[in-house]
Amino acid sequence: MKEFIINNPLDMHLHLRDNDMLKLVAPLSAKTFAGALIMPNLVPPITSKEALLSYKQRIKEASNDNNFETFMTLFFKSDYTFDFLKDIKDDIIGIKLYPAGITTNSEDGVSSMDIEFLRPNLQIMSDLNIPLCVHGETNGFVMDREKEFMPTYEALAKSFPKLKIIMEHITTKEAVLLLDKYDNLYASVTLHHLLITLDDLAGDSLKPHLFCKPIAKRPRDKKALLKAALKAHPKLMFGSDSAPHPKHKKESCGCAAGVFTSPIALQVLTQLFEKHKCLDNLNTFVSLNAQKIYNIKINNKYIKLIKKDFKVPNIYEYKNENVVPMYANETLLWSIKE
Ligand code: NCD
Ligand code: ZN
Repeated sequence: MKEFIINNPLDMHLHLRDNDMLKLVAPLSAKTFAGALIMPNLVPPITSKEALLSYKQRIKEASNDNNFETFMTLFFKSDYTFDFLKDIKDDIIGIKLYPAGITTNSEDGVSSMDIEFLRPNLQIMSDLNIPLCVHGETNGFVMDREKEFMPTYEALAKSFPKLKIIMEHITTKEAVLLLDKYDNLYASVTLHHLLITLDDLAGDSLKPHLFCKPIAKRPRDKKALLKAALKAHPKLMFGSDSAPHPKHKKESCGCAAGVFTSPIALQVLTQLFEKHKCLDNLNTFVSLNAQKIYNIKINNKYIKLIKKDFKVPNIYEYKNENVVPMYANETLLWSIKE
């Protein structure tokens, strides 16, 4: 039977939520990933050291696995002081900036992306060497939101040449092209944006479980993202943006944004890279690039995949929480070896 080993897989953009949802999803990530960058958009968002450390501890308890490294992020506020950031620096891997209201739980994000407004904090981050992770969308027409944000990324990259800027969950060809234009720009890309376009979400019947922010784009965009991922572009890393919402909030009028992929991510990535004869690049894409970009070292897990059918559960449940994964009820070609 065919096997494939992934060393220290990292998920560099992950939503684990809190309470019972955390208890439901954390073990699923901890089972197959060596570590993850944890998003701070809880309600209320993570904006203090106390909240950050206590969330890290709750994740550790919920994941039931000491072998799962959590790289914590702080929710960007424009009024953090130098002393505060200096003090919290060693406990975080970066700070996540959301334009206010642009996605789930981002109401407390920044009201303006004006560089002068953001300058004091970004200068401190640059001086302290704290990476900036950005949800890069405007509030324009939904298919153009990321493209319209490109000038902001360029202005940020030029104004703060020493600041490491990560374009989170990129979905467009324009973002891929920008990677090669500025030394200090990097990106994460999800599994679903390598696989689907707007057609898969809304071309036939509406598929709420594929609805997320940023929305899936055009075939040209998927092609550019896939090409960069398959060759393990050194400035691109895997970040699932696995974002669980309970079934009733997805299958509803006013569907919540977010695709839940963590329990299927490695199996599907293996299938995808194999299909394109690029399996040799998968370790770099899903682990080594992130270690280089964030200057981290991790060596705690290797995951063995075997070429054996895996029937994806139709739902994951814990107490009163539940979540429907991408590819629910479908059969994948690769399984995780237990
Ligand atoms: C994320 C969530 O649900 O927290 N949703 C999503 O559609 N990706 C937030 C985000 O990363 O935009
Ligand atoms: Zn996200």
